[in-house]
Amino acid sequence: MASDFEPSATGPKPWSLTVSPARALQGSCVVAPDKSLTHRAIMLSSLAEGSSSIRHPLFAEDCERTLSAFKAMGIAIQRSANELTIHGQGLHGLKTSPHPIDCGNSGTTMRLLAGILAAQPMRSTLVGDASLSRRPMDRIIEPLTRMGAKILAQDKGYPPLEITGCRPLAPLRWRTPIPSAQVKSSILLAGLFADGETSMEEPVLSRDHTERMLPQFGVPIGRRGHAVSVRGPARLTPATVEIPGDLSSAAFFLVAACLLPGSELRVTGVGVNPTRTGVLEVLRMMGARVHLEGVRTLGGEPTCDIVVRAAPLRGTIIQGSLIPRLIDEIPVLAVAATQAEGTTEIRDAAELRVKESDRIGLLAEELDRLGARITPRSDGLLIHGPTRLRGGEVQSHGDHRLAMSLAVAGLLAEGEVRIHDVTCVDTSFPGFWQLLEQLVVR
Ligand code: S3P
Repeated sequence: MASDFEPSATGPKPWSLTVSPARALQGSCVVAPDKSLTHRAIMLSSLAEGSSSIRHPLFAEDCERTLSAFKAMGIAIQRSANELTIHGQGLHGLKTSPHPIDCGNSGTTMRLLAGILAAQPMRSTLVGDASLSRRPMDRIIEPLTRMGAKILAQDKGYPPLEITGCRPLAPLRWRTPIPSAQVKSSILLAGLFADGETSMEEPVLSRDHTERMLPQFGVPIGRRGHAVSVRGPARLTPATVEIPGDLSSAAFFLVAACLLPGSELRVTGVGVNPTRTGVLEVLRMMGARVHLEGVRTLGGEPTCDIVVRAAPLRGTIIQGSLIPRLIDEIPVLAVAATQAEGTTEIRDAAELRVKESDRIGLLAEELDRLGARITPRSDGLLIHGPTRLRGGEVQSHGDHRLAMSLAVAGLLAEGEVRIHDVTCVDTSFPGFWQLLEQLVVR
């Protein structure tokens, strides 16, 4: 893979990369550990009374932000190559950070941490990078304010956030029109500190990692339909949490293997929590040959090996309750749709416009540069296939999932695809490019 380098404090980092066409993906691999689970494990361990271990955590920029935040609030954290040991101080052991907490690109860090800080009798400031500073925070500001916190945001509810916590918080019954695991988790984390039961109901179940992990730290969870509740004040006991591979990271390789004829790929130890497996269902609906092997439970989360063999794909409709179950995989599914026979329609996915980038507008713009027939809509995309993609120059716009989806497009294109602004891949998947090179057959 050819690269341009830009100097940085830690040595040269590739700014642009060229992806050449590939014939197949072959082999067996592990992908980056789960990002959502790593964030949650760091947070719950920091609030537990004693030392917890996190095995195989994701060491990537987003999770580093969460780690730095808790270190700045006085939590001692030791790390080795494959493990974090976090010396939790209990619910009331956090100290005021001596500086604003920089959440970088990580919406999960900012929104979940806000739930915890809402209950701390201190003032905290949360800042983010340019992308995070454009992401709406009113969805957490409103419920956390009702619980008693004071939260000042830039106008219209954008970061930075200045949070003045309140002890004790008032319990809350909250219903949200937007299914969002970040909002749900923020409220549940605040609920740990409240006096009584806090519940949160969403129209469609979003990823339920927080609900699965809290009982491992000794906190019971109530579930009724799409409502989940926690009773405070809670006490968290230390735990050992094992983090499986991230299905969202595996998706780039799984889709590429579905599309490149002659591919056979095994991704081992991937989390297949049913609230996350929409991508596998859609690939199967499109005609893909996807098999799950050796399903087992690891730290409350179903985990398995995923085996994919190439097969011709056909267009499909992706909408409704499937959307929250594959929200982060839509960029790479859009690439798959360019190769599928017929039309693929993605609806009910307006949330994509407020992710790390406007994933509807920018995905359409960048795939169009490669010759895809793709039309943005207010809440989704319309894609006609199959199209032989051509080589060209594209931009990630600083969005890690766009960068990796464009890399998959590059494997399928007739000519070379030069992707600019690829450093963002480190947000969730350091080692992505090396793994791609390892598996590609040219
Ligand atoms: C996440 C929830 C989702 C997802 C994000 C990670 C989480 O965001 O897109 O990448 O870890 O809770 P929303 O809650 O905004 O849907």
